[in-house]
Amino acid sequence: MSTFDIVSFKPLLVDNFFTEEHINHITEFIDSQINKNIKNGQNEYFGFENNKKLGCFTYTFTKENIKTTREYVSQEIKRILGIDIHPRFIDLKYQRYTSKTGNSSPELGPHVDKIDDKHYMSFSLPINNKENWPLYLYIKKYNIQNNQALFFNVSNTIHWRPKKEFLENEYYDVLILRFYEPGNHIFIDAGVAEKIETKARSITTHAFLKNLDL
Ligand SMILES: [Fe+2]
Repeated sequence: MSTFDIVSFKPLLVDNFFTEEHINHITEFIDSQINKNIKNGQNEYFGFENNKKLGCFTYTFTKENIKTTREYVSQEIKRILGIDIHPRFIDLKYQRYTSKTGNSSPELGPHVDKIDDKHYMSFSLPINNKENWPLYLYIKKYNIQNNQALFFNVSNTIHWRPKKEFLENEYYDVLILRFYEPGNHIFIDAGVAEKIETKARSITTHAFLKNLDL
C-alpha cells in the first residue's frame, strides 16, 4: 500500500534528470518527426496538436515511442518519489512554444490542470533551450534550467508563466509528464476547486498591481 501523500506534496526541483543519452533519444525522435513531415511535403508540425491559445505545438509520445526513456522515467519516479508506476501510466508530452502556432505571445495565466476528478503529479522539464522562461508556482518563481525537472501536484498547485513575445525563429521546448497512482488515486473535492479559482484570481490581481511580468 502506497503512503505517497499527493495532496500535500511540496514542489521538488531535481537536477540532471535525464542522462545525455536520453536527452539525445528524445531530441532525435522529435527532430525525426519534423524532418519526416518536411520530406513528405507536409506542415512541419503535422501530428502535433496545435494549441493556439497556449501558443505551443504538443507531441504526445505513444507507449511505443522512446520506450527505454519511458522506462527510465518510471525508474526515476520510483527512486525520487518512492512511487511504483508502470511506464504505460505515464503521460509524456513534448511542447514547443513558437509563433508558428499563429500565436507569438502565449497566455499562460494562473491555473491548475483539471484533467479529470483526480490529483495528478506532473513535472516540467525544459530541454535544449538557449534562454530561460520562468515558471511560477503560486508567487514563487522557478528559473528551471535545461534538464531540471520540477515535480509538483498539477491539480492543486497554481502555475503560470510571465508573458513572452516569440520572434519568428525563437522557440521554447519543454517536456511535460503527468501521472496518478493507480490504486491510490485521490479525488479532488469540489470545494477545493472553487478555493483554487479564487486564489488564482487574487494571484493575477496581485501580479498585475505589483507589475510582476504577468
Ligand atoms: Fe498547466
